[in-house]
Amino acid sequence: MFSPSAIIHLDNLSYNYHLIKDQLNNIPIMAVVKANAYGHGVIEISKALRDVGVKFFAVFTFNEAIELRNAGITEDILVFCRPTKQMLEIAYEKNITLNLCDPDDIRLFSKAKHSPKFHLKVDTGMTRLGISFDEAYGIIEIIKNQKLNCYGIYSHYATADEGDLHYAEHQLNQFNTLLDYSKKINLTFEFIHFSNSGTVINMPHSSFNLVRVGMLLYGSFPSDEVPRELPIRPVMEFRGPVVSLRKVKAGTKVSYGGVWEAKEDTVIGVVQTGFADGFPREWYLNGFISFKGSKYSIAGRVCMDQFMIDFGGADIQVGDEVLIFGQNNLDKILVDDIAKDIGSTSYVLLTGIKGRTERKYVN
Ligand SMILES: Cc1ncc(COP(=O)(O)O)c(C=O)c1O
Repeated sequence: MFSPSAIIHLDNLSYNYHLIKDQLNNIPIMAVVKANAYGHGVIEISKALRDVGVKFFAVFTFNEAIELRNAGITEDILVFCRPTKQMLEIAYEKNITLNLCDPDDIRLFSKAKHSPKFHLKVDTGMTRLGISFDEAYGIIEIIKNQKLNCYGIYSHYATADEGDLHYAEHQLNQFNTLLDYSKKINLTFEFIHFSNSGTVINMPHSSFNLVRVGMLLYGSFPSDEVPRELPIRPVMEFRGPVVSLRKVKAGTKVSYGGVWEAKEDTVIGVVQTGFADGFPREWYLNGFISFKGSKYSIAGRVCMDQFMIDFGGADIQVGDEVLIFGQNNLDKILVDDIAKDIGSTSYVLLTGIKGRTERKYVN
């Protein structure tokens, strides 16, 4: 049966993990596996990371945490979303760590019959979830006075992957001011974390004693403004099968809108992968695939289930698979480069891999 496939190279995941760990001088990594491990398959990725020594995981929703527990992940799991009352007892029973990110929620934790562990999230400039910097002092005092089950404090960078790091340094200064205050009132946190992929590269001085890493683990860079010096390897190899080949004459129009026309007699191949499977539709304007070490242009607009390729004189047959992005022995197209070309990000493209794409795990 024909379908797009995402070959997940677990050996590259493990390689990236060790590389990042070296870069961090062995500070523990909290692997961010939200959104189905950025499209790579959360259970298999988490198990593979656990097997190489990861002791901390982060997800966004509570259901994602339950899914990991049900799959046998017994390591620490931090949930980034705002907690609700219903989550507290289950979190306590399943040893899932929640997120105190709004002043109103302090009551949830102080009134709970059994309070689960939580980390305090402070907003130092992202203006998303997190206790505002000004209110954080008061919350820190309440945590201290009521001896709440707070194990960690953290914040999140808004501009860690930008060329200009002034704002990120301002966020870090605010965070350090709060840490100084906590020390002054004798409140200590077992875990202090702020860094993400951008700051692993850009601001290693903000690592504290735990580092939340997503994108670098999967072998992509968080943006095109960070230096691409760390030799990470793509974990996902996204491929599509050729299901039809046809000779066409010069001038033949291909796909919706008839915006693409063959410049000369050629061979048009149909690849059974479309934007419903996660193929980045806008890539058709300048895009290409790779096959046996050569690049071939996309011909015409990408459809929901299929797209077409101008194969020229390629040695290709129905049933062959082409590389859309990722890397294998002969072919390489970085998802980061596609993202840059179409004005998107690798986060959007990788988490978009779904639909009928079959994931296959290899070592
Ligand atoms: C709170 C938080 N921490 C860490 C990360 C990981 O970021 P990255 O994938 O850039 O390492 C994310 C990802 O969006 C996040 O939302």
